[in-house]
Amino acid sequence: MSNDTTLVLGATGNTGRRVAARLRLRDTHVRAASRSSRTPFDWFRPADWDQVLQGVTTAYVVPPAVPGPVHEFVARAQAAGVRRLVLLSGHGADDWGDSAFGLDMRSAEDAVRGSTLEWTVLRAANFAQNFVGPPFRAPLAAGELALPAGTVPEPFIDLEDVADVAAAVLSEPGRHAGRVYELTGPRGLTWAEAVELISRASGLPIAYRQVSPAEYTAALVQEGWSEDEAHLLTEMFVLLERGATAWTTDDVATVLGRAPRTFEDFVLRAVAAGAWLR
Ligand SMILES: NC(=O)c1ccc[n+]([C@@H]2O[C@H](COP(=O)([O-])OP(=O)(O)OC[C@H]3O[C@@H](n4cnc5c(N)ncnc54)[C@H](OP(=O)(O)O)[C@@H]3O)[C@@H](O)[C@H]2O)c1
Repeated sequence: MSNDTTLVLGATGNTGRRVAARLRLRDTHVRAASRSSRTPFDWFRPADWDQVLQGVTTAYVVPPAVPGPVHEFVARAQAAGVRRLVLLSGHGADDWGDSAFGLDMRSAEDAVRGSTLEWTVLRAANFAQNFVGPPFRAPLAAGELALPAGTVPEPFIDLEDVADVAAAVLSEPGRHAGRVYELTGPRGLTWAEAVELISRASGLPIAYRQVSPAEYTAALVQEGWSEDEAHLLTEMFVLLERGATAWTTDDVATVLGRAPRTFEDFVLRAVAAGAWLR
């Protein structure tokens, strides 16, 4: 094991916990940090950041959902002697306009790409695993997913591929400097097609129903989501329907030397884990 320490932010989250595990198996010294981790890190408590950054050479950055804090974080990282930053962002981040997602992703990217450190940006498409988390798992288990999504395909990416790419990039200094990787699955699927694959593989009767953005927001609020969360999620679907993220790339293969996992592969693993049972 080298003396280098890799800081993994969002370490209890979807990508962070997978990235940290991969790095540990590569004998990388990992400092796993988030608000509830043993190393506490809070995007809104910058007074604690210097301690978290002490001795860190490389950082995996899962940004906050608001624009701003990553600029200060990058300045502190630079001062602490960090050499490399790998940032998680969203597929097609340039095309998200002044949406809440667009503003926070571009703010984080500007901070990282404007630094003097070696940086790489990983722009991930929608995770296939969103279908096994809130707010999609429960409606699927109940037999119907209703979304404001029509015929525009989404190239869902498997979280295991995002983590494989992140771990590779974090472990290969120099090779990915200044690169923006758009991480997509091998092909686009409409949300209805994705639901059909889940229904077929699981043997459960699950229908897809297209609703208007306003109907979707109202339904989310009725399910207990806050108005803000409901509007944010609806806004994401409105943007997806404009096609900002519909395109696929070869970037997973560029980094890993193999094709990305298929959506069917994700569905098989999720069915095996009983993901959509009531
Ligand atoms: N979901 C998708 O399809 C998708 C696609 C592309 C990109 N992304 C991007 O991926 C990122 C994370 O999304 P996710 O769905 O993977 O999230 P997630 O699994 O919910 O993980 C969020 C992580 O951030 C930590 N966290 C939350 N608030 C924090 C705070 N104030 N300070 C420090 N850490 C905090 C959480 O841990 P604690 O609670 O312990 O702090 C957790 O480890 C977002 O930037 C999102 O835009 C998501």
